[in-house]
Amino acid sequence: MILAPSILTADFLHLGDVIEIINRSEADWLHLDVMDGVYVPNLSFGFPVLRQVAHIVEKPMDAHLMIVEPQKVITQFRDLGVRVLTIHYEACTHLHGVIMKIKEAGMKAGVALNPHTPVEVLTDIIDEVDVALIMSVNPGFGGQQFIPRAVDKVQRLKAMINRRKLQTLIEVDGGINLETGKIMTDAGAEVLVVGDSIFKAKNPEEMIRQMKTEL
Ligand code: DX5
Ligand code: ZN
Repeated sequence: MILAPSILTADFLHLGDVIEIINRSEADWLHLDVMDGVYVPNLSFGFPVLRQVAHIVEKPMDAHLMIVEPQKVITQFRDLGVRVLTIHYEACTHLHGVIMKIKEAGMKAGVALNPHTPVEVLTDIIDEVDVALIMSVNPGFGGQQFIPRAVDKVQRLKAMINRRKLQTLIEVDGGINLETGKIMTDAGAEVLVVGDSIFKAKNPEEMIRQMKTEL
């Protein structure tokens, strides 16, 4: 299981300390939630903050773009050193073309699906997708309730990936804790994004360790 802490609800007044916790922890990736106030009803952080994070983080960066027209910023994320660049299916009219551009830029291409979007929309593009991200909350905010319907979506997606003998990783994002995380890894998820459960825990590093051991 790949654990990707999301810093969305971490303490931004001490962001350097937060990144250091992730660096010395057993976390695998750093999940970065980028929002534009258009695709989702919230703003998070942009390039001035991301550049400083990129400078000190020692784990691969997994950027989750909740923005319209993501094709316009692909090279900027490449220049940051991002490993996995995930865009939303619902935000791309020409999804195939955007995925190709992400790969040409040397990054892994991720596609995220909102809770209401069926996994079957990926049928004719899944061969090109490195990471399929199933949202288990509506994107835009950390600390929300897990939507149980996402479990069946992961199972259906896993079946599709296995049928085609693909290497596509399934990532889940939203409301993941020790309980829902177990349900999702059992359903076939390989990457767990976790925000609140880690950063609202008394000891975030210990929670990361526990999740890595138990999930
Ligand atoms: C929501 C973000 C998530 C979120 C996860 O729009 O994509 O990454 O920060 O946080 P929790 O684990 O608090 O739901
Ligand atoms: Zn996210």
